[in-house]
Amino acid sequence: MNAKQAAGYRAAELVRDGMIVGLGTGSTAYYAIEKIGQRVAEGLQIRAIATSNASEELAESYGIPLVPASEIHRLDLAIDGADEVDPGMALIKGGGGALLREKLVAMHSDRFIVIADSGKMVSQLGQFKLPIEVVPFSYEWTLGQLQRRYDVDFEMRTRDGELYVTDNGNYIVDAAFGKIESPAQLSHELKMITGVVDHGLFVDIADMVIVGYDDGATEVI
Ligand code: 5RP
Repeated sequence: MNAKQAAGYRAAELVRDGMIVGLGTGSTAYYAIEKIGQRVAEGLQIRAIATSNASEELAESYGIPLVPASEIHRLDLAIDGADEVDPGMALIKGGGGALLREKLVAMHSDRFIVIADSGKMVSQLGQFKLPIEVVPFSYEWTLGQLQRRYDVDFEMRTRDGELYVTDNGNYIVDAAFGKIESPAQLSHELKMITGVVDHGLFVDIADMVIVGYDDGATEVI
């Protein structure tokens, strides 16, 4: 068992009958969905909301019953990966481009459980480029505002030579902050910029982090 699998499987064990569960996105969340799917096949009764089209397809392939977000007021539990986790459980997310739905689901869940291999644990956020989701209309203006405000490199995310488009029809700007001194302050500032839909800083949202190690061990923080 690898580190991501260990963390994902351990989190999946926290799911109980009757829960509404948020399913994250990415290679670590994959394992949580896989294990939840196995448990559903064994009789676990849950309903789930996926944070991306990819996770929705995966959940469907495992027979996990999905429910539209509009029919749910609150989730019991959400399980998702992260790109960086700091000692205060602030996160950078969005490497997979699903940050907006991930944040919506996490913020409407009673418990948000982060699953991460030990390489994601950092003393300070910022080495991983911070994804910022922006509206396509006049995205160059939004990019310009970001560039004037912060003296760091910003790059429009691309895929196959085209601008990357999120499941919500938006673009992603990846920002190389290097070190983020105050994730809470930066989070607030970025949200104030017109054209920014949201960003990958998750501050004061995580309730628990399950860290997976290469030997298959896990640690709960
Ligand atoms: C997707 C995410 C992922 O959770 C994050 O990128 C971690 O991915 P992985 O588990 O594949 O390392 O935020 O938007």
